[in-house]
Amino acid sequence: MSDTAFLKLDKLSLAYGKTIAVKDLDLDIRKGELLALLGPSGCGKTTTMRSIAGLMTPVGGQIRLDGADITHVAANKRAVGLVFQSYALFPHLTVFENVAFGLRLKGMSGTELEAKVTAGLKSVGLSAFADRKTPELSGGQQQRVALARSMVMEPKVLLLDEPLSNLDARLRLEMRTELQRVQKESGVTMIFVTHDQVEALALADRIVVMKNGAIEQIGTPEDIYNRPVSSFVADFVGFENVFAVRDGKLVTSEGEVALAGALPEVAGLAWRPRTVTLGTGPLQGKVRGVSFAGGTREYVLDSSLGTIKAEVDAAAPAHPLGTEIVFDLPIAAAAKLERFG
Ligand SMILES: Nc1ncnc2c1ncn2[C@@H]1O[C@H](COP(=O)(O)OP(=O)(O)OP(=O)(O)O)[C@@H](O)[C@H]1O
Ligand SMILES: [Mg+2]
Repeated sequence: MSDTAFLKLDKLSLAYGKTIAVKDLDLDIRKGELLALLGPSGCGKTTTMRSIAGLMTPVGGQIRLDGADITHVAANKRAVGLVFQSYALFPHLTVFENVAFGLRLKGMSGTELEAKVTAGLKSVGLSAFADRKTPELSGGQQQRVALARSMVMEPKVLLLDEPLSNLDARLRLEMRTELQRVQKESGVTMIFVTHDQVEALALADRIVVMKNGAIEQIGTPEDIYNRPVSSFVADFVGFENVFAVRDGKLVTSEGEVALAGALPEVAGLAWRPRTVTLGTGPLQGKVRGVSFAGGTREYVLDSSLGTIKAEVDAAAPAHPLGTEIVFDLPIAAAAKLERFG
């Protein structure tokens, strides 16, 4: 795939003084791809973005963009756009002038500038707001201005670092769709940082899951959601029942437990709550918690395997707290983990 890489990070290492934040990171990004960087706080997402933008010099490795080595190219010469969580608009300028700002710096003016800014505002649905001052806009509208401001510069790569994190839930959803549309229409290569798995799954062509400054897994949303390679990824994408496998048994908080069928030879097995069959099976549990979640009901069981989380259709009769109940962890429904820990 390396010959089709548009942006290539090659053994990239990044440090703050003696603290290594990212180590030997290899990543190929295709032209026009929407890639999500997903991972817990401190795993190195922002640091990686800063290095691509040229705000940080790597201590090792190389960054290539569109065939050229840009590792030591100045930030303003890279054709890389960056939109941060705090989008830092100029409050004293109108929406139009905020979007025009970078183009004016490049020496553009007159009808050319006007045409570019007008098209930029149209693409994010803000044509009617050109003359407003930015503090008079909603959070989502301000986010659109920040997006348009970067897009009009026609970057080769657009980096977005948690751009939706200070919007409320409804606006987030709206902006998510908007981002996806703008990206597909413009064809810009985009890297999007989030620590929200739902956002990454919904938006990305591919997801990179990071852990401690390294890549844990790269794959399509379906890969990551259905086939996590490690217990770390499984935990991160909502498999609530994650166990190591040793000597053909599950390693649980209550000791090693054999299941009815033979276990595959893997490092671990993981079940989403909805793949736990509640009410049938050879395992025994007691309801410690039950909560109504709209379409489903979520159960927490105390069992011979420790705590088990199960989820069933809310139309089924509820099992009250304290109920003794049987269940199963079907081996066929488990995600097979190559690594544990
Ligand atoms: N300016 C800095 N000086 C020293 N260490 C830093 C600095 N910025 C970040 N780090 C460290 O580098 C590591 C990676 O940080 P980074 O900001 O890339 O994480 P992140 O994945 O973006 O996390 P978050 O989701 O919280 O934004 C962390 O251990 C962090 O403490
Ligand atoms: Mg960050």
